[in-house]
Amino acid sequence: CKLVILLSGSGSNLQAFIDACKNQNLPDTEISAVISNKADAFGLIRAKEAGIATACIDHKQFASREDFDEALLQKIDEFGANLIVLAGFMRILTPRFVRHYLGRLINIHPSLLPKYPGLHTHQRAIDAGDKEAGATVHFVTEELDGGPPIIQAKIPIFDGDDAATLADRVLSKEHTIYPLAAQWFAEGRLKLQNSKAVLDDKN
Ligand code: GRF
Repeated sequence: CKLVILLSGSGSNLQAFIDACKNQNLPDTEISAVISNKADAFGLIRAKEAGIATACIDHKQFASREDFDEALLQKIDEFGANLIVLAGFMRILTPRFVRHYLGRLINIHPSLLPKYPGLHTHQRAIDAGDKEAGATVHFVTEELDGGPPIIQAKIPIFDGDDAATLADRVLSKEHTIYPLAAQWFAEGRLKLQNSKAVLDDKN
């Protein structure tokens, strides 16, 4: 299974994929390329250190979101991907892009969706007095952070938590569930069917 990973920043989730490939936790999976919309994303350095091809497509160089997504799509297809993994990719994707990859485009969002789509999820969970927080891997559809969930990780919110401490603990859970979801996909067990994520039992 060939993955193309899109990111805009630190790339700690990318690192989790790199480590999982190295440790044989993602058998038969390779990362074809990492693409960033930001030239200074640390994720690009992580990719280069792991010997993975990289590309930067700066959204500011394009007149419209459609033009940017078209360039991104062409680049992804040049590298070749069975699964496109959004890992902290901070751009909203156009319907055409999402439709092109429907069923093979996944994202991780740092909340227990459907709670808190969008930004500042941890602060919003704390402000609401929630007792738990977490992260959700989901198929991407045209609705922002609204696609069918694949797997969630939950953690308790402690009294002394602020957005930063909570983000740290959620992120370490992300690093487990995200490669796991990709592994299910690579094994052919995970599909988007009738707008739902369907996971087959292991034979
Ligand atoms: C994570 O919190 C992820 O849930 C969100 O963006 C962040 C990416 O972090 N979509 P990193 O770049 O993988 O460290």
